[in-house]
Amino acid sequence: MEEDYVFKIVVIGDSAVGKTQLLGRFTRDEFFLDSKSTIGIEFQTRTVDIARRRVKAQIWDTAGQERYRAVTSAYYRGALGAMLVYDVTRRHTFEHAARWVDELRAHADKSIVVMLIGNKADLAAGRAVAADEAAAFAEEQGLFFSEASALSGENVERAFLRLLEEIH
Ligand code: GTP
Repeated sequence: MEEDYVFKIVVIGDSAVGKTQLLGRFTRDEFFLDSKSTIGIEFQTRTVDIARRRVKAQIWDTAGQERYRAVTSAYYRGALGAMLVYDVTRRHTFEHAARWVDELRAHADKSIVVMLIGNKADLAAGRAVAADEAAAFAEEQGLFFSEASALSGENVERAFLRLLEEIH
């Protein structure tokens, strides 16, 4: 069946926070532990029903590593939503979230809906960022927030669906 809408979503955040694996979990229910760093830009799609409409999520993934990032306005152009991902076990990836918000403000549409994701929530013993602290940052910046695990799948579907619902 034809979709009613196509929503472009971009996934951003530092290198190795799990952007590609979150995308793989949501679009194909797959996960790879030995995931390679993304080079260039890729996208994957999944069609879901939201409020009785068929919504095709076209989700774009790019490298978090500075040296591979050819990110320009083109990556953000037309994006209705963004997943801004950090790794709950690596504090600097959370501290960089403010820089990613600045990049969104500079290049994306003003009305873009942004969800902050604290990924790798399965690694409880290695936690370096409290959920409360991230929730407070998200609230201050006007972002939605969820922790998730691409490995276990916890909250991944829910976070993507929430983002799509908020866009809708
Ligand atoms: P770049 O392409 O370099 O920007 O990285 P990325 O953000 O796309 O990270 P990627 O998805 O390649 O994952 C990096 C590493 O973290 C891989 O070894 C993954 O298997 C691992 N990883 C991703 N998500 C999780 C998770 O939820 N839990 C755990 N334990 N490991 C994860």
